[in-house]
Amino acid sequence: MCGIVGYIGREEAAPILLEGLSRLEYRGYDSAGIAVWSREDGLRVVKAKGRLQVLSDLVHGGADVHGTVGLGHTRWATHGEPSDVNAHPQVSGDGRFAVVHNGIIENYVEIREVLEAKGVKFTSQTDTEVVAHLLEYYYRGDVMEALTKVLHRVEGAYALGVICADCPDQLIAARKDSPLILGYGDGFNFLASDVTAVIKYTRDVCYLDDGEIAVLTRDGIQVYSHPYLLPVEKEHHQVNWEISAAEKGGYEHFMMKEIMEQPKAFRDTISPRIQNGRVVLEGLDIGEEFLGDMDRLYIIACGSSYHVGMAAKYTLERLLRKSVEVTLASEFRYCDPIVTDKTLALVISQSGETIDTLAALREARRLGARVLSIVNVVGSTIARESDDVLYTWAGPEIAVATTKAYSTQLAVVYLIGLYFAQKLGTIGREEYTGILDELQRIPDKIQRILERKEEIQYAASLYFNHASIFFIGRNIDYAVGMEGSLKLKEISYIHSEAYAAGELKHGTISLIEPGTLVVALASYGKLFEKLMSNVVEVKSRGADILGLTTESRKADMEKTADHVFAVPDTHPMLLPSLDVVPLQLFAYYVALMRGCDIDKPRNLAKSVTVE
Ligand code: F6R
Repeated sequence: MCGIVGYIGREEAAPILLEGLSRLEYRGYDSAGIAVWSREDGLRVVKAKGRLQVLSDLVHGGADVHGTVGLGHTRWATHGEPSDVNAHPQVSGDGRFAVVHNGIIENYVEIREVLEAKGVKFTSQTDTEVVAHLLEYYYRGDVMEALTKVLHRVEGAYALGVICADCPDQLIAARKDSPLILGYGDGFNFLASDVTAVIKYTRDVCYLDDGEIAVLTRDGIQVYSHPYLLPVEKEHHQVNWEISAAEKGGYEHFMMKEIMEQPKAFRDTISPRIQNGRVVLEGLDIGEEFLGDMDRLYIIACGSSYHVGMAAKYTLERLLRKSVEVTLASEFRYCDPIVTDKTLALVISQSGETIDTLAALREARRLGARVLSIVNVVGSTIARESDDVLYTWAGPEIAVATTKAYSTQLAVVYLIGLYFAQKLGTIGREEYTGILDELQRIPDKIQRILERKEEIQYAASLYFNHASIFFIGRNIDYAVGMEGSLKLKEISYIHSEAYAAGELKHGTISLIEPGTLVVALASYGKLFEKLMSNVVEVKSRGADILGLTTESRKADMEKTADHVFAVPDTHPMLLPSLDVVPLQLFAYYVALMRGCDIDKPRNLAKSVTVE
């Protein structure tokens, strides 16, 4: 989704803005632009469709644009095609205001009609342009007054950055439902969509809240609440990761780097939470009483986080003996859900900013549920709006296709499962200790899989040209198959679907023909034979079979499958953490062999902040 960076300081702004934008590239975009003010040139705006490099070349890395205050933007098109004119910053008719925006102004059509009737000329198809023209319309010499009126008039979601040529010693930011952070420096200050854009310059940040407006000067930042402009004291946070965490570190792609980081990320996530043979979840304030009375457990998420939820359902139902409903966030809020004050909503989100998930969280809370979230980005909106939050200590995830966030979300699910089960008394001491011990061996077992990545590379070389790929599995193997299929389709653009293996014969098997690849997941030992019957069914219809099982069943599977990869044996509940790794690698190598843009797949954005 769109990325925003704003700088005010004493250095040339353009190179800093371009560098900040390059750190936001991972969010997904299709055009980019900057606006920089200088006494000589006034407000200079340069925009270009395509990669940031195109913009950077236009201004020779920023050397052609002078001034020490400015805004930059990467645009992920929603209203209006990707083009130079639709790129941000959008500028008012009189050239006085430049605006960058992330979100959607929902009533922009109506505002545009009103303004056009008054003679205002629009140049783009964007919703954002109405903000620039409205600022001009309401401006009587006081920018804050004009902005307050604009915010009163617009509906929807926004993170806004504004620069006014009349007040070039300040930048203004405003937020509602789209993320925006402020970075504090010595003689300079930043606004940005996330901390990756500013961490090279400062670790001292704060998170703007909904309904807040910030005025940035070189010497400070003042935050106000909208609409009465009352000053707000913001809590500062120190970013505790190194900039190298957001760099490729010698890998060709962030995705491979992040796949390889999984043993560490998994260990970092579980280790501090296991003390003296017990799970300790600091900050989690859910006791026996609530759990005992809990009438429903919803898991709410989107995409891969939803797939974690699918695996979590099997785990939590087994451990807690309570029924668990996994719901897509985009459906939850419109399905009239049954929620009471005894309901627990487990919300899963890497970014903590996914708008569908955030809206579902708010709906769940409005209806009385208690919200526990699993989030990677510290200080994100979902984290802040939850009753309880457990962070995944995965570090920044830059590749659009999630890998280490998925793995660490699963790790937290296991911890929650064990913690709640112990409180509910649904798990015996021996089983508890057995699972916990095995959980601590998972990072090493993931490492062993990673050391054999060439085997997966070889399998990818056999199948990367297939036009259609099915993933089949039963129970948790089915849940992991969903993630394997999504990973493959999002970065390789091969059509792929995941099926509960038993469901194939109810329709989908008609699609199986010679040359179709079926990735068969048969790691869940209890259902190995059942799964193998489904494998025989598709093989006899001409499918190629790539099998995934555990080391102890490899020889059995090889009797039928064309090619088998085996993961180390583990406790059945923990299998998804191992199974997913070869599937991530398979997607990666297939995409690599097909020449795809792995870290930035077409049409996708990392943090989906529009509905
Ligand atoms: C796929 C992927 C997405 C996200 C989804 C939810 O690789 O990354 O499907 O899982 O957009 O994002 P978060 O977890 O940030 O809410």
